[in-house]
Amino acid sequence: MKNDRYNLTEYRTIHVLKEEHGTYQVSPTPRNPGDAVINGDAAQVMQVLHEHSVQAVVTSPPYYKQRDYDADCQLGNEPTPEEYIRKLVGIISACKSVLKPDGLLWLNLGDKYLNGKLLGLPWRVAIALSESGWTLRSDVIWHKPNAMPASIKNRPTTDHEYVFMLSQGAKYQYDADAIREPHVTFTDASKMRGGRGHFGKPGGTPEAGKNKGNPNLHRGRWDQAFHPLGRNKRTVWSIPLSKCPEAHFAVFPEKLVENCILASTRPEDTVLDPFCGSGTTLLVAHRLGRHFIGIDIKKEYCMMALRRLNAVQRELPFAQHPSQSIGG
Ligand SMILES: C[S@@+](CC[C@H](N)C(=O)[O-])C[C@H]1O[C@@H](n2cnc3c(N)ncnc32)[C@H](O)[C@@H]1O
Repeated sequence: MKNDRYNLTEYRTIHVLKEEHGTYQVSPTPRNPGDAVINGDAAQVMQVLHEHSVQAVVTSPPYYKQRDYDADCQLGNEPTPEEYIRKLVGIISACKSVLKPDGLLWLNLGDKYLNGKLLGLPWRVAIALSESGWTLRSDVIWHKPNAMPASIKNRPTTDHEYVFMLSQGAKYQYDADAIREPHVTFTDASKMRGGRGHFGKPGGTPEAGKNKGNPNLHRGRWDQAFHPLGRNKRTVWSIPLSKCPEAHFAVFPEKLVENCILASTRPEDTVLDPFCGSGTTLLVAHRLGRHFIGIDIKKEYCMMALRRLNAVQRELPFAQHPSQSIGG
């Protein structure tokens, strides 16, 4: 199978944000602006990216007081939660200039206990973003079935984070069919099934309602009366945490990123992660035939992302011998 896009690409160039005579530029200039890993501060890099060139942003910024990345301009170590919120909202708002008007932004955030008090940071950020003009369209709960056990005895153990889906208005690109999930099939024991007196009677049909007369609603076949690709995606996503042996921070599970990218982009669209870390968003975008831009303040994480991209590239069934760098 021939695919020119994968034929000539090897990801081996990090583009670095440089300041010259008071203005910033990315150097070397990416040959394809929609495939680049850029080392720099997200807020500054965003100023030099092409306007409205990105269809979706999928990102997981540093959480408040979670880790010291030991870099100037790093996010997460502000003296107060309020300052963290202000800085994060500033960076997310800067995404607007690069995001297409019908593009979506997916923001993964976890909360923090400080002096025994839960700060409620994900919602404080979401409300601040709403107030700054974003439209909050969904609050997905990422449930982590393999979350680390904790020795806490006076409250439940936290095993979820949020993924906020934000748009810039009422109209945006969203493909519900791309992420449908299996229907729940009702069993003999199901209340819904038992709630209808006609169930279990051969040849019986619902007497009333929108499915009146539909024989498929019998013998646990409710699902067949609904959308053939499955039911619309729900807001609780149960996805195990992923491990990336090289990374010292939590990496995105690929499945979570996949849901976001499939729902909000088409092949050849560009996906941006302004806090790309080990590059999970970029890998998934690439695997799904989308372009990507990753930004990270730490050069070693940009290198890690490139290494992972090259490994994915080699695994792709149609990859041929890479002979050319995308970055020159
Ligand atoms: C939680 S990690 C992201 C992990 C990523 N989702 C993955 O799958 O590997 C957050 C990243 O943000 C980066 N970072 C912190 N402050 C930044 C800033 N101001 N601009 C760009 N990147 C920043 C950190 O270096 C770190 O790699």
